[in-house]
This record gives sequence, structure tokens and C-alpha cells, in this order.
Amino acid sequence: MGHDHDKKKRMDIPEDKIGNGITNNINKVVGIASGKGGVGKSSITALIAVALKKNGYKVGILDADLTGPSIPRLFGIDAVPEKMELGVLPVKSRDNIIVMSINLLLENKDDPVLWRGPILSGVIKQFWEEVIWANLDFLLIDLPPGTGDIPLTVMQSIPVDEVVMVTGPQDVTNMVVKKAVRMMEKMDIPILGVVENMAYISCPGCNEVIKPFGESYAGKMAEECGLELITSLETDPEFIALANEGKVEDYKGENLEKIKKVIEKLM
Ligand SMILES: Nc1ncnc2c1ncn2[C@@H]1O[C@H](COP(=O)(O)OP(=O)(O)OP(=O)(O)O)[C@@H](O)[C@H]1O
Ligand SMILES: [Mg+2]
Repeated sequence: MGHDHDKKKRMDIPEDKIGNGITNNINKVVGIASGKGGVGKSSITALIAVALKKNGYKVGILDADLTGPSIPRLFGIDAVPEKMELGVLPVKSRDNIIVMSINLLLENKDDPVLWRGPILSGVIKQFWEEVIWANLDFLLIDLPPGTGDIPLTVMQSIPVDEVVMVTGPQDVTNMVVKKAVRMMEKMDIPILGVVENMAYISCPGCNEVIKPFGESYAGKMAEECGLELITSLETDPEFIALANEGKVEDYKGENLEKIKKVIEKLM
């Protein structure tokens, strides 16, 4: 298993990786990963993008979850990427976050993607090599769950600089997330730290914090892996409501404030 990219050369896409002569210039590629499904990788990708954008950075999101794409939905994007001579032009969110997702290319958004591994891997490579990302400060990659074919392809064909590992409070979640941590270690990909999501609920009428899953195992998992637990986000009904409406860019809740700790570490 190898990661043959020279880290010093990561500022630009290596010339032999550029399809059709695109000259993309991406300062930092950040993967948002978790061994576990449904822990909030896509939501946290969106939150990080929104926070970076608010800080004036140029941000792109590559939706690498080909069988469960959710980024366009979160941002309420329905545009179709334009095919140019040089490559494919990604679409822009309302606040100018640059997005590429398989769902933007499907005629019917409810159609399942029933392609086997090699085809999916090919699409991931195209999303990197044949999409005109142009100049970006950050390209965020929303990874699918697990440690299977697609996460492997992403990590081997895209020079990911750092990974944000998303987990939840439950013991079993952290057991599975640990596997993704080990995968990154095997591939020599630095992990920025761990973000725990949906750790608790704040009672709307009082100051009490409710922990539906009891005491969290996220801190223990991070410690055992030698990683920093950067922050613990709450389950926020306001976030869900905006996510359902495709308006994550309007979110101003506590989790956005907390995700700034990730932004600080990315600098
Ligand atoms: N902090 C949060 N507060 C409230 N709801 C959240 C939060 N984080 C995630 N959710 C909700 O939980 C669900 C799963 O989140 P999300 O799709 O981001 O997870 P995922 O890890 O990307 O899932 P998958 O493995 O399917 O890609 C979504 O309905 C999302 O709106
Ligand atoms: Mg997702």
C-alpha cells in the first residue's frame, strides 16, 4: 500500500496527474473521514467549508461519496456542471463554495449509482484530474464511510495533505473509527485530529446538557490513537432544519463556533 506523492510537491497537482492540461492550484487538500457511516462526515465537511469561506478563503468540496452523495443537497445546489474543452467546470454554491458531486451529473437525483469498484475509482480520479478546480486555498474531500475501495482510491490517487477524523460518542462507533485511523497511518496520511459529532443535546428550555448515548468514548479513542480530540459538536435541530432545506450556509449555531478550532489547526 503506498502513497507515492512527494509531500513537498503537494502544492500543485503533479503534471502527470493533470488531464487535458488543466492547471489547478490547490494549496491544501483535506479529507473528512470516518470508518463509520452516518456520524456526520458530510455535515462537518459543509461546516468546515462554511467556516473557511467566512474567513475569506477559496474553498472547494469534492464529494467522494459516489453511492451516497449528499453535498449538493446540503447546499441546495441543482446546477449541472459544464463540460469545457479543458475539463469539467464544477458548480458554485450560493456563497461561492465550489462543488463537484456525482449527483450533479445524474439525470435523476434519485437514481442509484450501481457501478462496480473500478468504474467508481475511475470517477474519483476524474473528479481530481479532469475537474477545473482552478485556484483554491482548500479542497475538502467528503469521503464515504468505511475503509473500502473508494476511500482507498481517494487516498492513493489524490494527494491528501491531512485528514479530519469524525466520530460519535458511542463505543462501537469509536471501535470502527479506529480502523480508519489505522488505515490512514498505514498510508502515511497525517491526521489533523478527531471531531466528535452529535455528542450531546442542549435542552432548549434550560441549561442542561443531555447525553443520549451516555458518557462519550471519543476522548478515549483519540487518546489511544495518539490524536487530539479537537472539539465535540452537539446535535442541533437548527442544523438539521437548514440541512434539509439546502441552506447550511445560513447556519450560525454553536457548532460553527466550535468548528473554528479545526480551521485554526488547518492554518
Ligand atoms: N451536529 C448535528 N446536529 C444535528 N444533526 C446532524 C448533525 N450532524 C449530522 N446530522 C444529521 O445526521 C445525519 C447524518 O449526517 P451526515 O450525512 O453528515 O453523516 P455522514 O457521516 O456523512 O453519513 P454517510 O456515512 O451516510 O455519508 C444527517 O441527517 C444530518 O443532518
Ligand atoms: Mg456523507
